[in-house]
Amino acid sequence: MNEITVTMVDGGIALVIFDDPERPVNTMTPDLLIAMENQVVPLMDDPEVKGLVFLSAKPDTFIAGADIKLFIEADDPKLVSEIDGAYSRVLSRLFENPKPLVAAVHGAALGGGLEIALACHYILASDHPATVLGLPEVTLGILPAAGGTQRLPRRVGLVRGLDMMLTGRRVRAGRALKIGLVDEVVTPEGILERAKSVAGDLVHGRLKRPAPRKALLDRLIGLPFVRSMVLGKARKTVRQRTRGNYPAPMRILECVDLGLQKGVDAALEREIASIGDLMMTPQSRSLVWLFLATQDMKSDTAKGRPASERMAVVGGGLMGAGIASVSLGRCPVVVQDISSEALERCSGQIKAGLARQARAEAVTPEEQERRWSTFTTTRDLSEIAGADLVVEAVFEELSLKRKVLAEVEEQVGPEAVYGTNTSVLGISEIAIGARHPERVVGMHYFSPVHKMPLLELVAPEQAAPWAVDKAQAFGQAQGKTVIRVKDRPGFYTTRILMPYLREALFLLERGATIEEIDGAMKDFGFPTGPLARMDEVGIDVAAQMSRDLGEKYSQRWGPGHDTLERMVKANFLGRKNGRGFYTYPAKKKKQKKPNQEIYSLFPERQAGTRDPALLRDTLSLTMVNEAAHCLQEDVIASPRDGDVGAVLGLGFPPFRGGPFHHADDLGLETIVSRMETLAEQHGPRYAPAQMIVDMERQGRTFFV
Ligand code: 3HC
Repeated sequence: MNEITVTMVDGGIALVIFDDPERPVNTMTPDLLIAMENQVVPLMDDPEVKGLVFLSAKPDTFIAGADIKLFIEADDPKLVSEIDGAYSRVLSRLFENPKPLVAAVHGAALGGGLEIALACHYILASDHPATVLGLPEVTLGILPAAGGTQRLPRRVGLVRGLDMMLTGRRVRAGRALKIGLVDEVVTPEGILERAKSVAGDLVHGRLKRPAPRKALLDRLIGLPFVRSMVLGKARKTVRQRTRGNYPAPMRILECVDLGLQKGVDAALEREIASIGDLMMTPQSRSLVWLFLATQDMKSDTAKGRPASERMAVVGGGLMGAGIASVSLGRCPVVVQDISSEALERCSGQIKAGLARQARAEAVTPEEQERRWSTFTTTRDLSEIAGADLVVEAVFEELSLKRKVLAEVEEQVGPEAVYGTNTSVLGISEIAIGARHPERVVGMHYFSPVHKMPLLELVAPEQAAPWAVDKAQAFGQAQGKTVIRVKDRPGFYTTRILMPYLREALFLLERGATIEEIDGAMKDFGFPTGPLARMDEVGIDVAAQMSRDLGEKYSQRWGPGHDTLERMVKANFLGRKNGRGFYTYPAKKKKQKKPNQEIYSLFPERQAGTRDPALLRDTLSLTMVNEAAHCLQEDVIASPRDGDVGAVLGLGFPPFRGGPFHHADDLGLETIVSRMETLAEQHGPRYAPAQMIVDMERQGRTFFV
């Protein structure tokens, strides 16, 4: 139940305090709307009230925007637009009233929460890392619809406003001040006093309402050709990024354009009309589902369970340094490696990471110092002795991993959990010969660790539940979304990725070109196509993984393609040596070109499969089918975990919700029929998983 408390203080200043005592954050709900209408709007006409300050009683949130949990139930676009319209009109009423309104933002002011602040005439923000401001609606497939598309660009300028709305980018206080989103930055302790004093100064004319700082472009934006140039460029970027898969960004541009041409009121009405439609789109449904699913997964282990008191990372390479960097701040971290050069590079990487976080204001300079002081490196393995969690991140080589495990076991105490970071090696195999196999789990991080949100936690049968829980709690403390998977070859993510990558080679053989294959999957919504992806991973690494997993699943997958092996022999190693499925110019690696020499590695290349829809189907259904096999074999616990894992770990298009949602959307009947046709034409590896066949017969779906 959202509550607003209004308190009068000296000088006729009304403090409007938001608090939802039953929830961890304040959100915009129909209750809050009623409270705004009944308690805040009348203050505009109350002669006792000279000015208002808006603030939150929550420790770390101002207002987190509309209540996303309600989106899932919304099935009437008109009703959504009506409720939103009422909000929007309240905020316009506030913005247009002559009394000064001051927003005291401490904590997250996101979506509708920022729109409340934008309806104020002066915005203060606290210099606390929890204070983030942004309009992330686009990431939920909708648009800012309480004035955001109009008031944000008018504060920060068109180009910055568009960037924030089209990407959902969030900014912290210092950056917000720089771009004109807020007017002043203060300490969390001082924000209320300062807000009251600003309100008083505005009332008495000692301070003027700040005028938006306008860049030259914004001063010229009234000129039709300037407007069409800026918006035309934005539309082009959106088309390139979304490939037409997401409707929300274009609706945002439409509102911005309309506001410039026909005025704010017309644009506000367009915002209101658009949100109802957008919320009903399958894209928004999937994105909202993903948000809620990942939130749900945070409570999969008991919150507050002690994660680790001292952590050690063995192996100071890129992955080890990444794992250490996301662990700092949770507990002291020691990184051990036999090479001093590796340790030096690792320290450099950690330092650069901390500096990056400080620049992004995610940590204060004091916190940056503190974290750095809890980080140590050593060549001496005995220095990891006190660790209660050890993450090993050495090369993907079974014998090496076993050796390191044995050495670590010599050093650590009985409470220590051992997480081995691997994308492909069996955890039970690594643990063969271990003194305490019950404490060994797999922790598959994704690169770059600080950016990739997923941790695939591999729980082998012999692992003790407390050890798995502890590793999970630690992954969550690192900010990762954790899926628990069984210890089967390739676990979940690598396993569903591999047949998809191998399939791309068969399609090349069948006559499709490199651009056609990658283009089809980018159109489907993946950030990169399968061939470019193999270049990124490294052709030698992909070849090894394909060989290893191919052997394990040979019965069903059939013989693999030997192209990758031949590419390695021909020194086509992918992006790392500038030659793979693409060639990469030494200086401008982004301007890659399809490598024509690759076709000569396919002597039996046919003329054939070129229909983009067929390419998309063949590749995506291969992944969906393998995901269903994983579910059938209990490798993943649920379609939810499978979807979240594929989206966060592999870049499966978020607007499709993941392979299981995609299967439901296509219809299991369609999947069975398409896969059976492929199986008839090209072999049994396309046969639909028994689970899909059974569910189709029983008329069931993965969700609902
Ligand atoms: N709606 C509903 N619940 C929300 C919420 C929201 N907007 N934002 C956060 N929550 C809930 C979470 O689900 C979680 O609930 P739980 O404890 O029951 O699982 C709880 O609040 C705490 O959230 P986090 O665990 O994520 O806490 P953090 O401190 O890590 O992060 C946050 C807080 C930065 C606010 C983050 O939750 C967040 O980014 N939320 C989403 C904000 C967002 O996208 N808002 C836009 C909404 S759309 C809109 O406003 C439309 C408007 O233009 C009309």
